[in-house]
Amino acid sequence: MSKKDLRKWWKEAVVYQIYPRSFKDSNGDGIGDLGGIISRLDYISSLGINVVWLNPIFASPNDDNGYDISDYRRIMDDFGNMQDFDELLAGLHVRGIKLVLDLVVNHSSDEHEWFRLGRSGRDHPYREYYHWWPAEKGTPPQRYSIFDINHNAWMYDTNTDAWFLHYFSRKQPDLNWENPALRKEIYDMMRFWLDKDIDGFRMDVIPFISKDTSFPILHFSTEQEYIHYYANGPNLHAYLQEINREVLSKYNIMTVAEGAGVRKEEALDYVDPERHELNMLYHFDGIDLKNLPGDEIVHDPKYDLVAFKTIYSNWDSIFSEKGWGTIYLGNHDQPRMVSRWGNDTPEFRELSSKMLSTFLLTMRATPYYYAGDELGMANIRFKNIDDYNDIATINRYRKIESEGGDLKGFLEEMKLFSRDNGRTPFQWNATAHAGFSTRTPWLKVNPDFIQVNAGVQESDPNSVLNYFRQLVKLRKQHKILVYGKYTLLDKDNPRIYAYLREWQGDKLLIMLNFTKTEASVNPGINLSKASVLICNCSSPSSCKVLRPCGAMVLQLS
Ligand code: NOJ
Repeated sequence: MSKKDLRKWWKEAVVYQIYPRSFKDSNGDGIGDLGGIISRLDYISSLGINVVWLNPIFASPNDDNGYDISDYRRIMDDFGNMQDFDELLAGLHVRGIKLVLDLVVNHSSDEHEWFRLGRSGRDHPYREYYHWWPAEKGTPPQRYSIFDINHNAWMYDTNTDAWFLHYFSRKQPDLNWENPALRKEIYDMMRFWLDKDIDGFRMDVIPFISKDTSFPILHFSTEQEYIHYYANGPNLHAYLQEINREVLSKYNIMTVAEGAGVRKEEALDYVDPERHELNMLYHFDGIDLKNLPGDEIVHDPKYDLVAFKTIYSNWDSIFSEKGWGTIYLGNHDQPRMVSRWGNDTPEFRELSSKMLSTFLLTMRATPYYYAGDELGMANIRFKNIDDYNDIATINRYRKIESEGGDLKGFLEEMKLFSRDNGRTPFQWNATAHAGFSTRTPWLKVNPDFIQVNAGVQESDPNSVLNYFRQLVKLRKQHKILVYGKYTLLDKDNPRIYAYLREWQGDKLLIMLNFTKTEASVNPGINLSKASVLICNCSSPSSCKVLRPCGAMVLQLS
């Protein structure tokens, strides 16, 4: 295959992820909606990004904010209607931006017609669209549920005297992919959206779709073990190939799997082009990296930067010959990037946000950039459980409460890790509710919106926002940042992440200081001809010492 064939639009893309509920409210009900996104299309376009990924926008009772779909072909009432959708898609396309939708087909809502009818009687044809365990077979073999308050993935249904399977909440029954009729429904539904001219899918927990329906007894003790098992069902890759054959291959689109439970040695099974499955997959190894215990933190960051570098370098190497990677540090399931991986104190928030953005935009992988990170939005750190909306946080709290556990400790942990930190309303300006809505929003606005908002940053050439725009432009102009070979340098340096990118005789050096103190770097290459392409401080001190949270991209030849 020639080099040219290896170039793809989705490899050169910068994906901007919008959580519709939190982006912009256009009708004053306190909930973000499609009209809100439409009203901000010029802002989105001004970022320079070329793909938008929207979290689910389909009809849903919102047990898990749209990840519980009750009608795959209807727009959620909170978000608008199909006319709004068509307008949004056209508005993006006219600006040269592609649209990727969330495909949530491991499970539906229990309010979906398939489930409502399927649970009405054992003989209903929709019964086989889900996984049922009839009571006469005894208690079903234990399965772990990620969201259930008791972590029990089987829910008893009195009506038909049987249990149904739900890996997530009780209102998210798992669909039975082993049933060809169900698969056909899903493919029809995918075609429905693709025929509207959308540009791809982000596939929610797609590795979980195939199940061993003999439901063998499992002996796992950790959530990780269950998740890895769930991600390796017997027919998974046959189904992904079928999806590709029946649907994906007919369109010029991109696909990305949420790679929950996927280990790096399994990644190519999804994205090796010769297997005809998906284009990309995003892994959890990076964001699952734990913080060090207090006494082992000698300087910020709170995690082991050498381990962090190893994870991202290993994932890069998987795709050095074939396949393609992704990179992200935040999304709607994660705390805010700068709070988790950087430093969100007033002194360093801007520098640190810019440094992390530099990382995301200079790696050999498609960046998935989460809306709000371009402003350096930070964790809200709710003090009270009543402030939370997220089912995962609330159900874990209730479980600890019922066991008489350490609720205070849990709330402290959630200040750093709860998903709601990443879901607070987008901070547009310093007016009431941060300009997100005219009314009290569904989730509290971070009180730092007075300082941190798009309005103030627009007019400041040195803002995080304008720095992000420059980075996107740089990535577009310098294809070496997309395709160039990646080599980790100064690998044991516990403070600096430095790497080389090389392509067609050009070389770029990226150096990032992950700490809040000055730190020296020894890239081990000749820097005499280096010139600065971008840097997050007005004047770089030198190429050997990086300022606190400093980031530099140097051209070497
Ligand atoms: C992953 C999604 O990103 C998350 O938000 C959701 O709760 C689960 N899948 C279940 O759909």
